[in-house]
Amino acid sequence: MKTAVITGASSGLGVEFVKAVIEKRRDIGKIIVIARRAERLWELKKIYGDIIYPLPLDLTVDGAFQQLSETLKEQECQVTLLINNAGFGKLGNFDSISEHDNALMVRLNCEAVNRVTGVCLPFMQGGEIINTCSIASFAPNIRMATYCSTKAYVMSLSRALREELKPRK
Ligand SMILES: NC(=O)c1ccc[n+]([C@@H]2O[C@H](COP(=O)([O-])OP(=O)(O)OC[C@H]3O[C@@H](n4cnc5c(N)ncnc54)[C@H](OP(=O)(O)O)[C@@H]3O)[C@@H](O)[C@H]2O)c1
Repeated sequence: MKTAVITGASSGLGVEFVKAVIEKRRDIGKIIVIARRAERLWELKKIYGDIIYPLPLDLTVDGAFQQLSETLKEQECQVTLLINNAGFGKLGNFDSISEHDNALMVRLNCEAVNRVTGVCLPFMQGGEIINTCSIASFAPNIRMATYCSTKAYVMSLSRALREELKPRK
């Protein structure tokens, strides 16, 4: 079945992406919504019905990617749209943010985008990938050193993949 995968679907832009896919992409029969807050994902299912497949995952935890891969296999998904949207930014001077939180930003904003894409690609035969970047992608900024750097990574990865994946449409 033609499937969309949307990370960070429990709030903010992610919820808007879900709405937009439902309104505009009639070809898509399943939307796998990913975030940690399961109750919000199930709320989406209540609103939009069986098209929503809640997959509560913490994308900073190793096992998450295996779980996504198994779900795509079990559900016989043909991923036609991947939206890597989950991300967060902590504001402050680099050394005022804990080592843990700086690393967590890198894990979610960079590593998870990289790994979710890697997991989904074998299930894609053409389609679209949308990676939520930021104006921060273009400009390193004080008090946002790690966040801006992670978003520069997302932009760079996206541009390279755009070229690399062209032959696969
Ligand atoms: N808001 C802005 O001004 C702005 C500007 C430029 C770019 N962005 C980018 O836009 C994207 C969406 O942000 P938003 O503004 O809509 O913020 P948001 O409302 O806080 O949404 C962030 C989403 O990411 C999910 N998430 C956070 N940590 C996660 C984890 N460990 N595992 C899985 N999911 C996780 C959250 O769900 P759970 O908490 O349920 O896990 C939530 O659904 C982010 O990539 C952000 O960097 C935002």
